[in-house]
Amino acid sequence: MIEVKKPASEQDWDAYYDLRYRILREPLGKERGSERNEGDETGIHFTLVENNVFIAVARLDSVDETVCQARFVAVESHLQGKGYGRKIMTALENEAQNLGYRKLILHARDYALPFYERLGYTLVGPSYKLFDVLQHFEMFKILS
Ligand SMILES: CC(C)(COP(=O)(O)OP(=O)(O)OC[C@H]1O[C@@H](n2cnc3c(N)ncnc32)[C@H](O)[C@@H]1OP(=O)(O)O)[C@@H](O)C(=O)NCCC(=O)NCCS
Repeated sequence: MIEVKKPASEQDWDAYYDLRYRILREPLGKERGSERNEGDETGIHFTLVENNVFIAVARLDSVDETVCQARFVAVESHLQGKGYGRKIMTALENEAQNLGYRKLILHARDYALPFYERLGYTLVGPSYKLFDVLQHFEMFKILS
């Protein structure tokens, strides 16, 4: 059975950051550790897990009282395209709504734009370049 969980044990945290690193940083030639930042202490962390195997990860950050942000969304490489990205984003959006946020923003990599558009996000425009190379695009969704 696939479950949405919050990482709890040391083993969970290792698997969580390992998946984030392998999907979001290793392909960019970055070293381990680059997958973490200060927001990890305050963010809400989500995982999709099946039989202790981590399938997907995501983090929800607060921006202000009504706006929140999804960050570090990643699905295990051989499991992409099977609905797991949608599943973890739905869990994150539901929690954001329950916490009282009205708007969810994110900065998507160019190749993830169609995924977020499919999930109902609206494109605002280009935002920043990660490590000076990977163009990101700001998107938002009104939570209702
Ligand atoms: C982007 C990512 C999170 C999407 O997760 P996923 O599990 O592969 O996507 P899903 O299978 O849940 O797709 C959900 C919907 O988006 C659509 N979709 C996904 N990628 C798409 C693409 N490149 N083009 C068009 N549609 C796409 C799917 O067809 C699906 O539509 P449906 O539910 O109406 O049938 C995942 O592929 C990933 O981790 N990629 C590498 C890391 C990354 O880019 N992370 C995001 C950083 S901003």
